[in-house]
Amino acid sequence: MNYEESARQKHQSALDSGEVILLAIETSCDETAAAVVRNGREILSNVVFSQIPLHTAYGGVVPEIASRSHVEKIGAVAAAALKEAGEEISGVAVTYGPGLVGALLVGVSFAKAYAYAKGLPLVAVHHIAGHVAANELSEAPPEKPYVCLVASGGHSHLLLVEESGFSVLAKTLDDAAGEALDKFARAIGLPYPGGPNLEKLAKEGTPSIKLPKASGKGDGLDLSFSGLKTAALTILRKNDNDAAFSRADLAASFQAAVVDALCTAAIEGAKRAGVKSVALAGGVAANTMLREELFARSCANGLAFHCPSMALCTDNAAMIGAEGYRLFMKGELAELSLNARATIPL
Ligand code: KG4
Ligand code: ZN
Repeated sequence: MNYEESARQKHQSALDSGEVILLAIETSCDETAAAVVRNGREILSNVVFSQIPLHTAYGGVVPEIASRSHVEKIGAVAAAALKEAGEEISGVAVTYGPGLVGALLVGVSFAKAYAYAKGLPLVAVHHIAGHVAANELSEAPPEKPYVCLVASGGHSHLLLVEESGFSVLAKTLDDAAGEALDKFARAIGLPYPGGPNLEKLAKEGTPSIKLPKASGKGDGLDLSFSGLKTAALTILRKNDNDAAFSRADLAASFQAAVVDALCTAAIEGAKRAGVKSVALAGGVAANTMLREELFARSCANGLAFHCPSMALCTDNAAMIGAEGYRLFMKGELAELSLNARATIPL
C-alpha cells in the first residue's frame, strides 16, 4: 500500500472509531515542542524544550541558533512525548507557519518523515489558530461564537471565533503587543525574554507616569503601539542621568498602557460582535496583569472570560494538537509536499 492509501485508511478508521490521537509538533520560534492529544481536548503528554538560555546572550532569538537547536532536540522531544502518552497515534499535526522559516522547516520535515514512515495522515496547522485552540484544552472551553484576543511576539489580533472558523475584527497597525513589550524591555536594559522580565520589574513600581494610549485612529478597534513606545523611550532617555528616576514606575506604566489598550479593544470588540464570551491567547496572555484586568473588565460588562493555563499560553504543541484535531475531523489533510511558510494570512 502506498503512503496516500495508508494515510486515507488510517484517517477513516480513526473517524469511525471516534478516537483521534494526534502527535503534534511545534518549532516555529524558540521552543522545540511535541505533544500527544486525544480528541483535541485531552493532553496525554506535552513536552517543551525551551531555547531561552541559548539566545539570552544575544538579547533575542537568533534564527540560525534556533534552527540548529531544533534539529538537535526534535527527535528526543517527540520520543519523550510519545513514550509518556503510550498510545497508538492516529495522525500527525504540525505548525507550518507563520514563524522563522528555518525553525519551522525542522518541525515540518520531522512531521512529514514520521507520518510517511508510519503511513499516518498529516495535518498542517497555522500557529495563531493553534494559540486560539489552546482554549479548547480548558476544562470548560468558551462557547462559540466568542471573541479571542491573540497577543504574541508576532501577532496582536482580535478574532471572532465561530463554528465555521474565525474572522479578524482588529489588529495592530505596527508592532505586535509582545514585540512592543520586548523592544521596550530591551531599551530599559532588561535581558531577553523581554515580556516576562518587564512584568517582574513592573511589579516593583507603580503605573504613575502618564503615557499616550495605544489605540489606532478613529473609532476602529485597531491598535498602534509605536506612539506609546516612542513616548516611553523619550522619557527614559530624558531621565538617563537621574539616579532618582524609577525605571520600575516606567515599566509599570508602559505595561499598564499595553494592557489597557488590549483590554479596551477586546471588550469593545465583544460588544460590537454581540458575543457572550471573551478569551485570551498567545504568549502575552501569560501576563498576570493582562489576565486579571481582562477578567475584571469582562465581569463588569457581563461577559464570560476564558484563558488557557500559563503553560498553554506560551508556545507549546498541545495547542497544535487541539487545532489539528479540528482540521482532522473536517478532513483537511496535508500532502507530503507541505512546506514551511514564514508568513501566512489569518
Ligand atoms: O506566543 P509566544 O510564546 O511566541 C510567539 O508566537 O510569538 O509569545 C511570545 C511573546 C514574547 O513577546 C514574550 O515577551 C511575551 O510573549 N510574553 C510575555 C509574558 N510571557 C511571554 N509578555 C508579558 N508578560 C509575560 N509574562
Ligand atoms: Zn506563539
